Parts: sequence; C-alpha cells; structure tokens
Amino acid sequence: MNQEERQTLRQVENLMKKSQYTVVLTGAGMSTESGLPDFRSQSGLWQGKNPEEIASVQALERNREEFLSFYRKRIEQLERYAPHSGHERLTQWQRQGYVQRIITQNVDGFHQHATSHGVLELHGTLREIRCQQCERTFSSERYLQEQGEVCSHCQGFLRPSVVLFGESLDAEVIHHAFEEARKAELFIVMGSSLQVSPANMLPMEALNEGAVLVIINEGETQLDDAAHYRLHGKIGEIVSRITL
Ligand code: APR
Repeated sequence: MNQEERQTLRQVENLMKKSQYTVVLTGAGMSTESGLPDFRSQSGLWQGKNPEEIASVQALERNREEFLSFYRKRIEQLERYAPHSGHERLTQWQRQGYVQRIITQNVDGFHQHATSHGVLELHGTLREIRCQQCERTFSSERYLQEQGEVCSHCQGFLRPSVVLFGESLDAEVIHHAFEEARKAELFIVMGSSLQVSPANMLPMEALNEGAVLVIINEGETQLDDAAHYRLHGKIGEIVSRITL
C-alpha cells in the first residue's frame, strides 16, 4: 500500500468513527476470498457465458438441464466454503456500532453465517429453494439429491430463491434498501462492479442525500468517479488495516 493509499485509509477510518449512520453494500467480491467466484472478473462465472441463458426465467423454462447444473454447482460450493475475516470484521464493526446496515447482492448467506444481523439480501438466497407451482420452500441441500428439483408436495419444479434475470426484486427489500441508503451519512461499497441495477442505484441515492461514498474494490467500478474515496485492493487485506 503506497503513501497515498495509507492516507486514504486513515481518512476512511476517521469517517467511520465520526459517522452516525454507515451503510455497507457488498457484492460478489466480498466472497471471493472465501473461495466463491464472482461474476465479471477474469475468473468470474459470466466469463464466456451469457447469464441470460443460464440464470434467467427463460433458462428455467427452456434450458432446465443447464439451469439445474449451474445452481447445483453453486449450492454445492456453499457447503464447501465459509465466511472469511472480511465478513467477520463487518460483524465486529456492526457490534461496535460503526456499521448500521449491511445490504448485499450476494446469495451465499455468508454475512449471516458470520453472525451479521439485519442483512438485506437484494437478490434473494441460495440457501433456500421454492416450488414454481405451489411456492412451498425447502432447504437448498435437497437440490443436490436425486430428483431434488421435484416438489414433494405437488411434483412442481423447484428453483433457488434467488432473483433470476427477468424477475423483479422483492419490493419490500428494495424499498427498505433505498430507505437505508437515504439515511446513510457514510455509504461503503465492497466488492461490486456496480453494473447491475437497482443495486447500483443505492450509492447514488446516498450521494443525493449528502452521504460520503467510499468504494473498496479490486477492479474498476461504474461509480469510481462519483466516489469521495477509493481503495483498490483485496477486501480482506484492506479491512484488516482499518483500525477503529
Ligand atoms: N477484494 C476486492 N474486490 C474484489 C475481490 C476481492 N477479494 N474479488 C473480486 N473483487 C471485485 C472485482 O474486481 C469486481 O469488480 O468485485 C467485483 C465483483 O463484481 P461482479 O463480479 O460484477 O459482482 P457483483 O457486482 O456482485 O454482481 C452483481 O450481478 O450477475 C448478477 O446477481 C448477480 O448479484 C450479482 C450481480
């Protein structure tokens, strides 16, 4: 970390100590150090693939084989990996009163597994699957069994409780997330390319209400120019250097 980055880190530390309401928005980059791939980095899940053909409503209807194998693989990965020190640090900051809300685009449940509370999951969760017909829900481990995609109640097709491309987000969750963004004095983005809406509108909502925007991310993001402070690098390493 060079002199300028160390100075930025100190400024972010001071902001976190002073802020009365800090909101953190996380993306897939929050979980890569746990072992889960992100989507748009070189090694991301969407490299060489069209997400609309795999993780969408039409894939669920017309391309079930690929849909099933894609989600079975991701659910199987959840069993193998766990939250890392970056997730635990966020939980610690929440406990100490430095973070008031965590909003995530991730569906891995790692913030909750790291005992963060009140997490807003914008894109749903891979920890649960639900029936397309009768809406019954089951724990997602079931997806890994033979015929795990068939509802035991109505024989309907079970799909993960994630927001697919072509589906709308839960209205209550997104409303709550925008309310939180408006309350933020300090809005910190961690591990997101900010390419997907409406999640990528939250930092702008916070800025419009006068919040300070900090982006902690390895790659470029759509809102780098709008951020007051920018920390490039690995989340685990950066949060370990923030002393509150
Ligand atoms: N530390 C810091 N940044 C990281 C790390 C890390 N260890 N690993 C990856 N990143 C950065 C990448 O450089 C990238 O800019 O995290 C960002 C992840 O961006 P995406 O892969 O686009 O993931 P995300 O922004 O969460 O995608 C949003 O798109 O496909 C949908 O539903 C999916 O929720 C997802 C949404």
